[in-house]
Amino acid sequence: DWTMGLYREQAIAAIRDQVGDKKVICGLSGGVDSSVTAVLLHEAIGDQLTCVFVDHGLLRKGEADEVVSMFRDNYNMQFIHADEQDLFLGELDGQSDPETKRKIIGKLFIDVFQKHANSIEGAEFLAQGTLYPDVIESVSFSGGPSVTIKSHHNVGGLPEKMGLKLVEPLRELFKDEVRALGRELGLPASFIGRHPFPGPGLAIRCPGEITREKLEILREADAVYIDQIRKHGLYDDIWQAFVAILPVRTVGVMGDGRTYDFACALRAVTSVDGMTADYYPFSHEFLGETATRIINEIKGINRVTYDITSKPPGTIEWE
Ligand code: XMP
Repeated sequence: DWTMGLYREQAIAAIRDQVGDKKVICGLSGGVDSSVTAVLLHEAIGDQLTCVFVDHGLLRKGEADEVVSMFRDNYNMQFIHADEQDLFLGELDGQSDPETKRKIIGKLFIDVFQKHANSIEGAEFLAQGTLYPDVIESVSFSGGPSVTIKSHHNVGGLPEKMGLKLVEPLRELFKDEVRALGRELGLPASFIGRHPFPGPGLAIRCPGEITREKLEILREADAVYIDQIRKHGLYDDIWQAFVAILPVRTVGVMGDGRTYDFACALRAVTSVDGMTADYYPFSHEFLGETATRIINEIKGINRVTYDITSKPPGTIEWE
């Protein structure tokens, strides 16, 4: 794509121009926007860039390892893997209110990011994967500069607090253009085509209290579900798909024994922008096969339901 080739060259020149020989910090979530931002900056300024990846213990199966091996090992970036699982899960212990959970995660995320960013001596810039729609949204809501963004991975308010200047190389792009730029930069399709994943991660797919046991079961069930979706060639037709583990145990029979395990809900929606959504019309065969696999393969779940709520009135996530 020659337009993206040109955009890439111009963006790299603009970054070098803005940053000079100073250091830049970039928060990396493993999502498309932050990944493309990091790779673009790395190409522009190499080791002047340090990425900070906060692992809050609410990621999916294998996700942290994928991010670490992609950016540290493959791209050879200066990379801080902030493994803060114990901190996050400790503070979340016993909390069941959705907004409280989000607030705890958001606040800790900023604290942890700041702590690690402070350890990078002489940093003057903070890179953010702000897209054009974020720019319009925040301007029209606040009338002010575009620093408060939807996701807590876009660390709103932090640049001022830390005395950092912003670098936002995706500011002029829409999502599909970011994907095209990512392809141009050679990011693997597995990163570029990923479903969106919320900043609070699995916390909002585990309604009620979060326990390590539930998270572990959820990770395994989600991995089986996504594997099914990929095997049936449906991944790219779906905006988002995930499992939620329900805060209820139900009775079942397995072999000649009685079980008393968690129920889960499968969710899959189509959407253009996440603002409205329809449930995905899986075939009954697909649903039956997936339920059987989850119950047979995952210890701790004995009942599978499919969520057929559209948005509105539902939301995509369960919290
Ligand atoms: P809902 O559940 O509100 O989700 O229909 C719409 C889209 O936003 C994502 N989402 C979040 N993303 N922090 C995020 O970064 C959040 O707190 C959050 N809540 C929802 C959700 O995954 C979907 O793509």
